[in-house]
Amino acid sequence: MIEIVSGAEVEETSGDALVVPVFEERVWGPGADWAAGLLGGWLEGYLDRADFTGKLGQLASVPGGERIDYDEVVFAGVGAEVDAETVRRVAGTAGRALTRHRIVATTLHQIGIDDAAELVTVGFLLGQYHFDKYRSDPPPILTEQLVLAGAGEGAGERIEHGRVVAGAVALARDLINEPAGAKPPATLAARIVEIGKEAGFSVSVYDEAECAAERFGGLLGVAAGADNPPRMVVMRHRPEGATSSLALVGKGIVFDSGGLSIKTAKGMETMKTDMSGAAAVVGAMQAIARLGLAIDVTAVAPLTENMTGGSAQRPGDVLRIRNGKTIEVLNTDAEGRLVLADGLSLAAEGEPDLIVDIATLTGACRVGLGSRVGGLLANNDDAAATVEAAAREAGEKVWRLPLEPEYRKEIDSTVADMKNIGGSYGGAITAALLLAEFVGDIPWVHLDIAGPARADAAADYTSEGGTGFGVRTLVALAEQLAG
Ligand code: BES
Ligand code: ZN
Ligand code: ZN
Repeated sequence: MIEIVSGAEVEETSGDALVVPVFEERVWGPGADWAAGLLGGWLEGYLDRADFTGKLGQLASVPGGERIDYDEVVFAGVGAEVDAETVRRVAGTAGRALTRHRIVATTLHQIGIDDAAELVTVGFLLGQYHFDKYRSDPPPILTEQLVLAGAGEGAGERIEHGRVVAGAVALARDLINEPAGAKPPATLAARIVEIGKEAGFSVSVYDEAECAAERFGGLLGVAAGADNPPRMVVMRHRPEGATSSLALVGKGIVFDSGGLSIKTAKGMETMKTDMSGAAAVVGAMQAIARLGLAIDVTAVAPLTENMTGGSAQRPGDVLRIRNGKTIEVLNTDAEGRLVLADGLSLAAEGEPDLIVDIATLTGACRVGLGSRVGGLLANNDDAAATVEAAAREAGEKVWRLPLEPEYRKEIDSTVADMKNIGGSYGGAITAALLLAEFVGDIPWVHLDIAGPARADAAADYTSEGGTGFGVRTLVALAEQLAG
């Protein structure tokens, strides 16, 4: 585990690499002026030839030489206008590039942004994230220590907070990146129990018989075609003296084949990541418990595979959800909303102040917003604004879509209370309109993360595969509500 420490000023410390920020047009940032002065006149010409202007994301590495106590000086472009997300991203880019350096020092946190020590911590740790469990010969990560030069005593708390948040995101990434065959619902549920023990939140697991007794008809319907039985997992953080409450619900389809409305081979390739919503709420719970936030938080994760076995649900079947409403299943690939319906019903029974669900719910949302932005839909403007603010603070991009009541008729069924698909257009909205049927009057926000839950390629602090998108927003939200 990489240690992050606040160290002496840059002139007085040493290491294998020193990362210093440079603004656009090669305006030296903190520490960069000092390093450039010592390196000598050849530096400008070298950076010219390397096309290094200080544009966001650029890195230029030069040997430290005789006059400087670092083996390498890494000039890191931060662009023209720096904000919190810039600091995270630059730290992530450095983290990704410097995995072979044992001791890395930086001045990036001195850039004049609040709580930058935390931003650097989160960015660097996530930049170094790697999922190598199944590689025989993984590329080594040698970094042992990141030294925040001249950060001062006070930075300790921010560093610790950053470590907790980054750890929670990494946990979610690990759960998402795990192959589906290695995380059947019972195994994943057992892992969540362990995580709860270690972090200090309680976990109840409903097995298949208990799911039936609890009338989780949506979850059981989706699970019918799988040999591996489903689990409903309920996590609880109950600190003393909490005056507000939050419920989280995460879609936990450990593999989505589409069911009998089967996906294409290509469409299935990434479907081990269809439990990214569940992973996000587990990660968030870990951080919320570790930070001891003064708010009651309940997180619900319905876990199942969506498979095609002989007892699979058929298009046309009708399911009864926990709250008594019925859904005609016309497309078994629209399964997320079926398991979320049970999860939301259960969450609503606890009458929390706010319910937030998070799900890789619709291809439509991914088509509309792309792979870097999540969709946000809500039955309440204040709740939407609160979650938008949390996402902004966390550096996760969300965009609100309308919960357009005029489209509700698209999910009218001729045999049940509703059907699980709408027409050809507005798929992210019709999916959310179905979910809205299960939250009653409670303020509710739905996050459709079908786009940003996974990444095709690594960039800044985002790793290839599961991204852990949503964890940071949910933690920031819990912090805001805890006051
Ligand atoms: N898990 C998928 C959505 C998805 C697609 C997530 C691509 C990430 C990447 C979901 O269960 C699904 O298949 N939705 C269908 C719904 C449709 C049948 C109404 C979709 O979006 O095509
Ligand atoms: Zn599906
Ligand atoms: Zn799905």
